[in-house]
Amino acid sequence: MSTTMQKIGIEKVKHSKIDQVDFDNLSFGSVFTDHMLVCDYKDGAWETPKITPYQPITLDPSSKIFHYGQSIFEGMKAYKDTENKVWLFRPLDNFKRLNISAKRMAIPEIPEEYFMEGLKALVEVDKNWIPQKDGSSLYIRPFVFASGKGFHASPANEYKFLICLAPSGSYFSGKVKVLIEETYSRSANGGVGYAKAGGNYAGQFYPTQLAAEKGYSQVIWTDDNNHEYIEEAGAMNIFVRINDTLITGPTSDRILDGITRKSILQIAEDEGIATEVRKITVTEVVEAAKNGSLKEMFGAGTAAVISPIATFGFRDVDYDLPELKDSFATRLKKRITDIQFNRAEDPFGWRL
Ligand code: COI
Repeated sequence: MSTTMQKIGIEKVKHSKIDQVDFDNLSFGSVFTDHMLVCDYKDGAWETPKITPYQPITLDPSSKIFHYGQSIFEGMKAYKDTENKVWLFRPLDNFKRLNISAKRMAIPEIPEEYFMEGLKALVEVDKNWIPQKDGSSLYIRPFVFASGKGFHASPANEYKFLICLAPSGSYFSGKVKVLIEETYSRSANGGVGYAKAGGNYAGQFYPTQLAAEKGYSQVIWTDDNNHEYIEEAGAMNIFVRINDTLITGPTSDRILDGITRKSILQIAEDEGIATEVRKITVTEVVEAAKNGSLKEMFGAGTAAVISPIATFGFRDVDYDLPELKDSFATRLKKRITDIQFNRAEDPFGWRL
């Protein structure tokens, strides 16, 4: 969709709150920068985005987001290198996926210029907030929701597109122990699993709470049909290493087309690691754990980058994964973050 965009208006804060932030002890997504981007959809068109001070928004109680969950989001990051240059990672891929999600949720698509120019302008305004400590970055959350009013169960006629920024440290701490889920499902054929729809994540909270009561921090999602295939790890894509082959499931109606997932696949191939994109059965993972050929399992996503799994549980038995010196997870995480932070060549042209 092309548009002729007017200049993005910028209203800056009078007093920055940056001095109140302890950049050495950042958690994930809990402090927000001084500004945000706001763009309204009214009368059949997106209005020019504007940058305003970060502030609460007022909505009518009948706004459709509250009742029908018409909302989507993206997760991306900005990085600062040692020379204070700011980098984004594959932002156009996030833009495209946002509009794939928009289409599925009957939300009007965002014009590319509004997303890309709005994003760059906002990150520039708040660039002092990009942490430089190893393992930290500026988490970027673009999201769109139905602000239009009315209880009629149909798409809204008004929407808001916002981008908020959160200087963040690691998503997980400590060892990750996961449970292979056989009762609940995250997604179904013909459903919305491939979209980054808010409700996809809310639907995970209850099964994850039940798993937490048994001592697991995350759930491994299996297919909704027979719970036969391993599909995702919590809010991330999943990779399994059997012997020296790195395997991940194919994207589908049910599996998110993760940007970290596809980057990891490309990097692995570039590193000469054998990869397979195919369905992974629960049975083969359990068998591989028993016979010692299961070397690694890890989640991959923007927030956590790569999150190695230490233990998985299946039908009341826990299987520990070996602690490897030269794991694929460590190697691939180093390579992708070196590209993101401009510490290494970017042969793929991902940095912007
Ligand atoms: C991301 O990795 O950015 C995600 O979408 C996970 C999010 C729910 C924190």
